[in-house]
Amino acid sequence: TNPALVDPFARPISYLRVSVTDRCDFRCTYCMAENMTFLPKAELLSLEELDRLCSTFVRLGVEKLRITGGEPLVRRGIMTFFRAMSRHLETGSLRELTLTTNGSQLARHAEELAACGVRRVNVSLDTLDPEKFARITRWGRLNQVLDGIRAARAASLRVKINAVALRGFNEDELFRLVEWCGGEGHDLTFIEVMPMGEMGEDTRLHQYWSLNDLRATLAERYSLIELSDRTGGPARYIRLAQTGQRLGFITPLTHNFCESCNRVRLTCTGELFMCLGQEDRADLRQPLRRSPDDAALEEAIRAAIARKPRGHDFDYSRRTVSGQMSRHMSHTGG
Ligand code: GTP
Ligand code: 5AD
Ligand code: SF4
Repeated sequence: TNPALVDPFARPISYLRVSVTDRCDFRCTYCMAENMTFLPKAELLSLEELDRLCSTFVRLGVEKLRITGGEPLVRRGIMTFFRAMSRHLETGSLRELTLTTNGSQLARHAEELAACGVRRVNVSLDTLDPEKFARITRWGRLNQVLDGIRAARAASLRVKINAVALRGFNEDELFRLVEWCGGEGHDLTFIEVMPMGEMGEDTRLHQYWSLNDLRATLAERYSLIELSDRTGGPARYIRLAQTGQRLGFITPLTHNFCESCNRVRLTCTGELFMCLGQEDRADLRQPLRRSPDDAALEEAIRAAIARKPRGHDFDYSRRTVSGQMSRHMSHTGG
């Protein structure tokens, strides 16, 4: 009865990313400042409010729900929220319930996530060297994350490792990451670093490692077979002929994938960002709180989707940075 959500560029919106907290127990240097000021807890939507918002999106045709943060597993009571969302899997209105996590709390939660119908998790991991891991996360313990990943696998969750490609940081670990993921049976996706967050003088240009260059290095050792697989996310996939392993590439800089965008992002305060790379947002908290009836909320969601922009303006190609923004990645969960 409800026409599905379609944006002005005829892109159906079927994927909602929900940041349930702005907090994180790590401070990855490309994601957060060292001294972040976090929102007072009173500013957060309650879990009941998040439930009502997400359920409205599901009613409007969202089929894939990805829970993010900050670090989603540091939000108190988050398993209650996962349990609540699992009812949409049971009715068949939701196709996938999943999360992107830093893995630090995964050992405690893996079993229960699986019981809620989560089938796979994306874990951020940029290095397999404990000392470098502590440096990039500012204090994280690699072993804690590896324990989390093992627990996820033991609970029959598929694991996708997300590695941000960083020149001068994990360039020397390219083959090690590929081989480790291959050996452990994890999917692996590389991501081009985006110019977001307070960067000061540091534009991250010196860290930018284009995935074209990364692929060229890979091709020195492997034959790369292009695949047409899609997971509903932005990654493009290849297979390594020699090992059969699948690798994903997320290339906002070298290959803009905005034309096939299917997603919007909800923050933990109830703002809807129509694009990761633009500042425009819509306040859904007010219509949510104004009335227990969902009509105003649905109307606000449709109005927001009607102003979804064509795409981001990130660009490093002229060896300068443009399109950057001061909003931290953790605000919208990537
Ligand atoms: P899959 O369902 O496994 O395909 O996941 P996904 O790639 O949709 O989600 P994930 O959280 O693993 O995303 C990895 C990273 O891709 C994000 O953190 C962002 O850095 C980037 N990304 C995801 N969606 C977008 C997008 O719409 N625009 C841009 N520019 N980057 C995105
Ligand atoms: N550029 C690219 N990816 C980023 N992430 C966080 N900050 C950035 C950035 N500036 C990634 C994390 C995680 C995902 C949610 O976003 O590594 O995998
Ligand atoms: Fe979609 Fe914006 Fe990401 Fe482009 S940058 S794919 S429009 S969210």
